[in-house]
Parts: sequence; C-alpha cells; structure tokens
Amino acid sequence: PAGPDLAGRTVVVSAGGTREPLDPVRFLGNRSSGRQGVALAVAAAHRGARVTLVAANVEDVILPREANVEVHQVETTLQLRDAVRAAATGADVVIMAAAVADFRPVASAGHKIKKTSGAPAPIELVTNPDILAELAADRLRRGQVVVGFAAETGDGQRGVLEHGREKARRKGADLLAVNEVGADLGFGDVPNEVTVLDAAGDVVARARGTKGDVAEALLDAVADRLRATTT
Ligand code: C5P
Repeated sequence: PAGPDLAGRTVVVSAGGTREPLDPVRFLGNRSSGRQGVALAVAAAHRGARVTLVAANVEDVILPREANVEVHQVETTLQLRDAVRAAATGADVVIMAAAVADFRPVASAGHKIKKTSGAPAPIELVTNPDILAELAADRLRRGQVVVGFAAETGDGQRGVLEHGREKARRKGADLLAVNEVGADLGFGDVPNEVTVLDAAGDVVARARGTKGDVAEALLDAVADRLRATTT
C-alpha cells in the first residue's frame, strides 16, 4: 500500500444507507452495508489522513477504531447532510460512499401506523436534497476534492459507463467511482470492479478486487488530484 501520502489532510467519508422513518418502528431504506465507505475511511487513516466517518445505519460492519478516525452515526438523509457538511467545511476531501434515499415520507407518524381494513393509505414522498451535487456546487473549502459513487446496473460494461459518464457530468463531482451492480458484482465480499471518472466523464483509473483494493485505487486518484491542485 501507499505510504502516508495523506498526512496533514482531512478526509470526510459517508458510509452505509440512509433510512427515512414512516413511524416510530418503520422506515424506507436500502441494502447498503457500509463496507466500501468503512474500507475507505480505514485506508485513508492508514495513509495518514484525519478522517471523519459519517456512518448511516452501518450495523453489520465493524466501525474503525483508529485514533485518527472520528465516527458520527446518523440515520436519515437530512442528518447525514448536516453531519457531512459540518465536517466538510474544513476538509480537503469528501467522499460520498453512502447510499442516500432519493425520497422521504412527507411526515413520520408520531405513533405506529395501524393496520386498517380496506385500501391502505398511500405514502406521500418528497425529494431529498442531492448532497453530492450540493457539495460539488458549493465547494465548502477551496481546492476540495469531491468524490461520488455510482452503482449502475445492466446493459453491459458500455451501458454502465455511459450512465456513469452522464452522472459524472450532471453531479459535478471531481471524481465518480462507477461500479456495475447486479449478477455477482458489487455485493458483500465478492470482488468489485470500479471505473473512476473525472467531471468530464473521462476514465482516470480502473480497479478490481476487494473493497479495500478499490479504496486504495480511489485514494490514489484522490492523492493525484490533491497534488495537482496544491502545486
Ligand atoms: O444519483 P445516484 O444516487 O446514483 O448518485 C450516487 C451518488 O450520489 C453517491 O455518491 C451518493 O452518496 C450521492 N447522493 C447524494 N444525495 C442523494 C443521492 C445520492 O449525495 N440524495
């Protein structure tokens, strides 16, 4: 692995998946384990960075215990956004590895929703803010490197890359790690295949292997970016 090439740098990583409460016991959520984000936080810490890990509902993965990793646990998208933005204000790098709910219920009931006879009540949703796009637009610190993830499905490698390119341009992040999910890629501990794009949609790196391998390759691309913007 690389040496302490992130010493003196501050890195924010979001991990896991946000949950949007429907009532005190139910939520809308997703299956993100948080493994990739945790691997990134650990790898950045080992490369010398001061890391803030914003962990959304990371339950099946052991959270880092490195002295230079501060962990903030959150549940909802709005909580994740507040925690990420507070930490990002002084950060050199922000990596949005969390799976963020695109929508949330308009309101969370104060009591457990009762089973009713007849048609169930519809769930009314509102759109969540796109935290990554906001970070890319706001640039909370000069020269900050903003990194996103995109899990794309289907239409083979070419289609996946095309979707990724479109997303890279739309979100405005400096780097977008695109991986194909579905079949046996992207889940659990099986090897991941990630293509790293820049904001123009051009390929800057490819990585295949464990989430730790992907983390190292992505941090290599981040370190290149940091060197380029500070010299
Ligand atoms: O558009 P899509 O959800 O595929 O984009 C994924 C990337 O955008 C991830 O980096 C994710 O953390 C981020 N995202 C976000 N806020 C949202 C939705 C996604 O920051 N509301």
